Amino acid sequence: MTRVFSGVKPTGHLTLGNYLGAMRRWAEVDQHRSEALFCVVDLHALTVAHDPARVRRLSRQAATLLLAAGVDPRLCTVFVQSHVDEHARLSYLLECVATDGEMRRMIQYKEKAARERERGGSLRLSLLTYPVLMAADILAYNADEVPVGDDQAQHVELARDLAVRFNQRYGHTFVVPRATPPQVAARVMNLQDPASKMGKSDDSGPGIVYLLDEPDAVRRKVMRAVTDSGREVEYDPEGRPGIANLLEILAACTNGNPESLASVYESYGALKKDTADAVVEVLRPVQARHRELCADPAYVEGVLRDGAEKARAMARPTVDTAYRAIGLLPPVPEPAALNAVS
Ligand code: TRP
Repeated sequence: MTRVFSGVKPTGHLTLGNYLGAMRRWAEVDQHRSEALFCVVDLHALTVAHDPARVRRLSRQAATLLLAAGVDPRLCTVFVQSHVDEHARLSYLLECVATDGEMRRMIQYKEKAARERERGGSLRLSLLTYPVLMAADILAYNADEVPVGDDQAQHVELARDLAVRFNQRYGHTFVVPRATPPQVAARVMNLQDPASKMGKSDDSGPGIVYLLDEPDAVRRKVMRAVTDSGREVEYDPEGRPGIANLLEILAACTNGNPESLASVYESYGALKKDTADAVVEVLRPVQARHRELCADPAYVEGVLRDGAEKARAMARPTVDTAYRAIGLLPPVPEPAALNAVS
């Protein structure tokens, strides 16, 4: 069976973009047709200035929201990255396979580094090596498919390159993974800035619908979305990105099609109102389930404990094989006699 791995980074509250673009497909499709692992990648949240208590809170919340979104621990493995040591173990080995030049060519690194330098801040070394840790996340489980948006495609490409290189140098160890892009209409843009993705780490709140936003807040944000000059409702992502974004959100929420929906509306106001209602309806069951799960923290903890155990059992043999293949001396087993006494 195809193995699928994906991760969600606890650097901010999860958004409608995370849900429509990724989580919903994990719950509705991926966990049913493949052997899937969904991971709260908390180590990745430490690559930029962070508040320890906030990372802890967001990690628990991300795990709870995954379950609330319908990711079912009976069908897949849900866990927290730092609970499984294999990620960090493998990451170091892959640092010995990746090159400095390769890391510095990563688009996301270049952008984030440039922004950070502008602010006069210093960069954490882990921001540079982050894609290697991400490669370790994927390769430790021999994942075949990695469902991610285009902003992560270059990182998955790196994971492929490292897998091929490691296998060539040290013998076949890793499956070579591939990125599987989300379906169209799943790329939700910022309501105030339809040229950029609705990301959770951005701080422009009014353009971002969070999964836990109250209905009133959702309505306010959608009603205030920037539109384009012009009056007709047309689906034209290039020329009318604001309206196209609303049509795509509405289509994603109602299983419709943005082009045909465009012909239904005569005014921007009506489109916004229906989009707001549709988003509220899509979020309602997720929020209800989230409330139930928050009332039962022991359940969520149990899921994460079992998930980490399952994940460890999957990753351990592969990472051990990589340790041996690259030339590390196997640890000496305890003498059998001592075991027998204790
Ligand atoms: N880098 C991804 C992001 O920022 C999160 C991530 C980390 C990930 N490890 C992963 C995604 C492995 C897929 C597979 O969104």
